[in-house]
Amino acid sequence: MTNQPHGGKLVNRELSKQEKERAVENAKSLKKITANPWVISDLELIGIGGFSPLEGFMGQKDYERVVKELRLGDGTIWSIPITLPVTEDQAEEIETGEEVALVGEDGVIYGTIQVEEKYTYDKELEAQYVYGTIEEAHPGVKKIYEKGNVYVGGPITLLNRPDHSRFEDYYMDPAETRQMFDDLGWKTIVGFQTRNPVHRAHEHIQKTALEAVDGLLLNPLVGETKSDDIPADVRMESYEVILKNYYVDDRVRLVIYPAAMRYAGPREAILHAIVRKNYGCTHFIVGRDHAGVGDYYGTYDAQDLIAEYEEELGINIFKFEHAFYCTVCENMASAKTCPHDKENHVHLSGTKVRELLRNGERPPKEFSRPEVADVLIKGMKQPTA
Ligand code: ADX
Repeated sequence: MTNQPHGGKLVNRELSKQEKERAVENAKSLKKITANPWVISDLELIGIGGFSPLEGFMGQKDYERVVKELRLGDGTIWSIPITLPVTEDQAEEIETGEEVALVGEDGVIYGTIQVEEKYTYDKELEAQYVYGTIEEAHPGVKKIYEKGNVYVGGPITLLNRPDHSRFEDYYMDPAETRQMFDDLGWKTIVGFQTRNPVHRAHEHIQKTALEAVDGLLLNPLVGETKSDDIPADVRMESYEVILKNYYVDDRVRLVIYPAAMRYAGPREAILHAIVRKNYGCTHFIVGRDHAGVGDYYGTYDAQDLIAEYEEELGINIFKFEHAFYCTVCENMASAKTCPHDKENHVHLSGTKVRELLRNGERPPKEFSRPEVADVLIKGMKQPTA
C-alpha cells in the first residue's frame, strides 16, 4: 500500500472531458490574469494533486501561518507559500466572488480561479521567514521582489496542462504513480528529488536507500531553474543512460516533477517530501544542502528542520551525510564510513565540473559515470534556447 496523501485526500481539480470543453469556452469570456510559467506550474501541481491538500492558491490565513509557523490555517504542515501574485492595477479590476481565467504567457487558458480574497503581503518578511535572507542575490528571494504586490486566493480548476510532450513517457499524475507502485507490488518506495544530473554521490545515496525499500522513484524537477543549472532535457537524457546502464529495471521508475525550483533549502526539503508523499512514496531522501544555493544554508540545515516535523509529516526521511569517492576505500563513502584523510576524497565543485564539460572533458569516473558525462558534454555544446 502506498502512503496516504498529505491531509488525507488526493486532490483533483480537473474536470471530466465534457465539462472541460464547456469550461474552456466559458473561460474565454472571463477576466484574465496572465501568469508566468512558475505560477502555471503551481496551478498544475494543485490541479493534479501533487500539492494536496491545497485546492487553490493560498488565502491570507493559510499564507501567514505557512510563512511564520510552517502550517496551513487548519494546522497541517506546509512550508512554502503557494500564491497567485498580481499587480495592484490587476487586483483593482478583479472582484472577490468572481471567477477569473489564468492565462499563460503563450495565450493558453490553463485554468480558472474562484477569487475568494485579495491581500497585500510583506515581501521582506516572506523572504526572511521562507528563505532565511532578504538578499536579492538569492534566486528565490529575487522572484519575490519581482512579483506583483497583491496575492489572490481561492480554489482553482485546471483546464489545460502545460505542454510536457518532450517528456511524455515520464509524466504521471500522483494517482497514476500510486497505481503503478501497487501494480509493481512495491510497498515501500523512496522518492529522490534532484535538479542535477545523477552523479556518483546521488547514485550512492539512492542505491543505499534502495537496499532498505522496494523501489526508487527518481523524480527530477523539470520546471523553472536558474540559468546555470543544467537544462531539463539534457538531464533527462542523462537519467535515461544512467538507469539503462547502472540500475535494475524493475526497481526504479523515472517520473518528472513539473515544479519550479525555489532554492529555499530547509523549507523546500519539507515541500519536496510532502509532494513525494502525495505521489505515494513512503520514504524521501534528504542529503547534504538539499535545495540549497550558494552559502545560504548550512550543510545539514534541511535535515535538522525536517527532523523536527518528520513524525507528523507521515513520510520517513533518509538523511545522508555528504558522500564522496575515497581512493583508499576504493568506493563511495562518507564521514560516517571512511576513516581516511580528505586528500583521498574526490571532490569537484559545480563550477569545475561545468568547466570540464564545456571543454569536452569527462570528469573523473569516480565523480560521474562516463555515459552521463558524454550526454552532458553533448548537451553543453547545444546552443541554449
Ligand atoms: S536539489 O537542489 O535538488 O536538492 P541536488 O540535485 O544536488 O539538488 O541533490 C539531490 C539530492 O541529493 C538532495 O537530497 C541532496 O541533498 C543530495 N545530495 C547531492 N549531492 C550529495 C552528496 N555529495 N552527498 C550527499 N547527498 C547529496
